[in-house]
Amino acid sequence: MNPLGNLPNTAFFVTTIMDAQGMGADDWDELQRNLLATIPVYDRINRFATLGQVTRWRRMVRDMLPDGKILEVGCGPGSFAEDVIGRNLVCLDPIPEMLAAAEERVNSARRSRGDDPAIFVEGTAEELPFDDDSFDALCSLFSFRDWYDKKAGLSESLRVLRPGSSIIIVDPAKMNRAHGFLGILWMRVWVGAYARVVCGQRDHPWKWLTKTYSEFGTTRDYVSMLREVGFVDVKARVIFPGMATIWSARAP
Ligand SMILES: C[S@@+](CC[C@H](N)C(=O)[O-])C[C@H]1O[C@@H](n2cnc3c(N)ncnc32)[C@H](O)[C@@H]1O
Repeated sequence: MNPLGNLPNTAFFVTTIMDAQGMGADDWDELQRNLLATIPVYDRINRFATLGQVTRWRRMVRDMLPDGKILEVGCGPGSFAEDVIGRNLVCLDPIPEMLAAAEERVNSARRSRGDDPAIFVEGTAEELPFDDDSFDALCSLFSFRDWYDKKAGLSESLRVLRPGSSIIIVDPAKMNRAHGFLGILWMRVWVGAYARVVCGQRDHPWKWLTKTYSEFGTTRDYVSMLREVGFVDVKARVIFPGMATIWSARAP
């Protein structure tokens, strides 16, 4: 996969090796093991990494959701889903332990508000276990970067969305190589130092944040990909303070 072979893995080289489409099976297996290890510290490190902005970004996405049936792809431990109020919510993730953590957290919040319980489904974006035209919106926050075949995942998203309904994706922004280089420095130095302290180990699972970000394409790459798979009204906005992009589009 690495076109530069054995060149040193410096931040500069990493920004130049982009695989905007996805990742190989071995990498994806290892990524899943690392994601699993992040569960106890996920929210704490995420808030630190984004200077607290993640709460505002999640609110922005929640405000964009219509009434009706919503699918969150890559729900993780339920950090976004917990505060989705009143909608008919389905949460999907490939890691059973993530789903268990999310179910407890999300459904206890929903019970306390009088909302019906959310449904938790094991699966991947690339093979969504749902019928065509099932949802009024699909969102994915900080997960798209990890999809092993992004084009397949977007095609599946389009298939399960009802005509006219929306997809909303949030992930770290990469406007160009220079911006990507700064992002990698931020993740390696700032987030890496904090994760080492919080996890109490040098070889902490947040190292994968830098790796998946390095291989992530630019904001524009995924505008093109959304169009290629058939979405319309494709928009992308890099949101303050320049660390994340919100992509939105509609099923025709
Ligand atoms: C960082 S968590 C995001 C949690 C949550 N959405 C949030 O707002 O913080 C990313 C999640 O995406 C899931 N994921 C990774 N690859 C995926 C794929 N191909 N399809 C669906 N989910 C995937 C991971 O298992 C992980 O739980």
